[in-house]
Amino acid sequence: MKINNIPFRTIWPDELDRKTIKIIDQRHLPHKLVIEKLLTPEDFVLAIQQMHVRGAGLIGATAGFGMYSAALVAPENDFEKWITKAAKNLIATRPTASNLSWAVNRQLTAMQDESTKDNKINKSYTTACAIADEDADFCQRIGEHGLAIIKEISQQKKGAPVNILTHCNAGWLAFVDYGSATAPIYAAHREGIDIHVWVDETRPWLQGAKLTAFELQEEGVPNTLIPDNTGGHLMQHGMVDLVIVGTDRTTYTGDVANKIGTYLKALAAKDCGVPFYVALPSSTFDWQIRNGIKDIPIEQRSGDEVKYVSGITKTGKTETVLISSPDIKTANYGFDVTPSRLITGLITERGIVAARKKDILTMFPEQHK
Ligand code: MRU
Repeated sequence: MKINNIPFRTIWPDELDRKTIKIIDQRHLPHKLVIEKLLTPEDFVLAIQQMHVRGAGLIGATAGFGMYSAALVAPENDFEKWITKAAKNLIATRPTASNLSWAVNRQLTAMQDESTKDNKINKSYTTACAIADEDADFCQRIGEHGLAIIKEISQQKKGAPVNILTHCNAGWLAFVDYGSATAPIYAAHREGIDIHVWVDETRPWLQGAKLTAFELQEEGVPNTLIPDNTGGHLMQHGMVDLVIVGTDRTTYTGDVANKIGTYLKALAAKDCGVPFYVALPSSTFDWQIRNGIKDIPIEQRSGDEVKYVSGITKTGKTETVLISSPDIKTANYGFDVTPSRLITGLITERGIVAARKKDILTMFPEQHK
């Protein structure tokens, strides 16, 4: 997708030196476009941990390249031990998004089949590129499937604007390209369907305000930024036709972990009869966990993210300010779980499926239990 009309992906190998991997450092958006070079395995760990990159798909793609970076510097006589340690370090960065361990394990399996160090390096490079390309491709297909939902609502409304609410950033910045929740939105916009997006600001990190509103704006999609607690009111007044969110981990039974606050939007949608869809590539499924509320690990982040906000001053200077008493107690749960019963459907690269074990496993028969 585009920034200043220039097409970008969120992560890519340098054209001249494939040992250098480039990312958009998302901490500076929407005010500054900063491209960062990741050169060592530690750079990848920090980039995920400190949220230079974030979002389930992009965390997975970054971990894929992180494993390649580890292979490059692993000593030949201690390769397995080194690479296992690198895998552990990457997996420990953030606990909720399942794409992270999925990508790391895919790399471990890929490298296992090769005998020499050079072959392992080459294999890990092609695997990292494949993970990234597949992520973009799957998101594009999510867009094609999700488009049908928006089209139908637009027809029912006789071409009047379709109002879509989204939470956090499950846009192209959370993936390699296109996004999950935003892919159907971009597809509808490209088809000339009249749409408008309500963007939850998404406290405390403000992914909605800083990223989703920005990327929709760059693509020319009409949108309105709203404080997090506005959605219920809008739904009660018929101002939301559809909710589409992303997910960081979805169980094979259809429970969805997504950015904190998603559950409350799902409850309001249920109460108001608004369809509530979750968009995800299959790399976000957790094929082991049955009960999302009990068993999905929920990241708890620093209280400073709750107490401080940062932005730019009128003179363009970045500043961080304290908004509460300095020594106040905080809780900062990064995600919550929306139970499957509140979800109208899951939009995947293979099509739209009910958030139910039987249907999910029918769509992904290779995971049959
Ligand atoms: O903490 P983040 O920014 O990595 O959280 C991820 C998210 O942006 C959302 O929860 C998103 O909806 C799912 S990730 C595609």
